[in-house]
Amino acid sequence: MGDIPASEDLDGLKSKALAQIASAVSMDEVETLRVSLLGRKGEITSRLKTLSSFSPQERPAAGAALNAVKNVIEDALAQRASSMKKKEVTERLQQESFDITLPGRPVGDGAFHPIGSVMDELISIFQELGFAVVEGPEIETDEYNFQMLNFPDDHPARDMQDTFYVQNGARLLRTHTSPVQIHAMLKRQPPISVIAPGRVYRCDSDITHSPVFHQLEGFHIAKNVTFGHLKGILELFFHKLYGKHTKLRFRPSFFPFTEPSAEVDVSCQICSGKGCRVCKGSGWLEILGAGMIDPNVLNAVNYDSEKWTGFAFGLGIERIAMRKYGIDDIRLLYENDVKFLSQF
Ligand code: PHE
Repeated sequence: MGDIPASEDLDGLKSKALAQIASAVSMDEVETLRVSLLGRKGEITSRLKTLSSFSPQERPAAGAALNAVKNVIEDALAQRASSMKKKEVTERLQQESFDITLPGRPVGDGAFHPIGSVMDELISIFQELGFAVVEGPEIETDEYNFQMLNFPDDHPARDMQDTFYVQNGARLLRTHTSPVQIHAMLKRQPPISVIAPGRVYRCDSDITHSPVFHQLEGFHIAKNVTFGHLKGILELFFHKLYGKHTKLRFRPSFFPFTEPSAEVDVSCQICSGKGCRVCKGSGWLEILGAGMIDPNVLNAVNYDSEKWTGFAFGLGIERIAMRKYGIDDIRLLYENDVKFLSQF
C-alpha cells in the first residue's frame, strides 16, 4: 500500500473508508477492511507513521485530526462488524428453522421374531418356578451329545441321516439340548434346577422339520424326586402358558437318557380338546419328551445315583410357536420375510 500521497486529503480518505465499510456485506469483508485501514501496513497506520516528518508546530493538530479519523473508522468498523454478525446469526437461524406444525415421519416398528418371543415367555415361566438358565455349545462331541447320555453305540439317532458331523466326524452339531444337562451337571452339584434353551440341528427338512430348530431343555435333580414332581411341574408350566383348563397326557416312550420315559401331549388350546384342524381332530398336541434321568447318566457325571434322582424334559419351541400363531409351514420362520415377520 505504501505511503499515502500527502496531497490526498484526510476527509477524502475518511469518506472513502466509511463508504467501503458501509458496503461490506460480511464479517470477512469487514475484517479485510480493518486490516487495510488499521493493520500494521494500513492506510491510517501509515499516515500515523508520517507524523514524525511534520514540524513540531504542525504535528499536534495533524496528529489530533488523524486520530479523530482513526476513531471514527474504528467505530464504523465495530458497528458494521456487529450488524454483520447479527445478520449472519439471523440467516443461520432462518436456515435452521423448521415447521414444528409438520406431522412427524413414522418410523417402522420392529417386531419380535415368534421364536424369540415364545422362547422369552417359556424362560420367564420357568424362572418363576425357580429354574436357572444355562447355555451350552452348539458344536459338540459325540461324548456329550450321545455317550454320556447313555446312547448305545449302535443307536439309530447316531446315524448320519440325523446328525450333522463336522471336522471329519470329530465334532457334531448338537442334535438336542440334552448335552447341556451333562455340562451343567459337571459344573454343579445337586440339588439342581436348570433350563437350557437353544438351537439344535438335524439332517431333516420338510414343512414340519427344519435342519435347525430350537429346544428348551429342563431338568431337576434332588433327593427323592419322583415322576410325580415331573408331572406337577409340567402341569404348572402349561397352566401358566395356556390357561388352567389345559390337560396333559403322558404316553410311554423311550429315550436312552431317561427311564421311564414319556411323550407328553397337551390338550389343544384352540378347540379345548374337542378336535380341530390344528390338532388334526385328536384334541391333543404332541409337545415334549420327558422322563426320569437314567441312573447311567448320573453315574457318568459321578453323581451318587442311590442318593440323587431327577427328571428331565425337552420341548420344541417351533411347535409351540406354530400353534400359538397358527403357522402351518415351519420354513416361514426362517425365511426372514419382513411381510411375514411384521405380523407378530
Ligand atoms: N432330547 C430329547 C429329544 O430331542 C427330548 C428329551 C429331553 C426327552 C429330556 C427326555 C428328556 O427328542
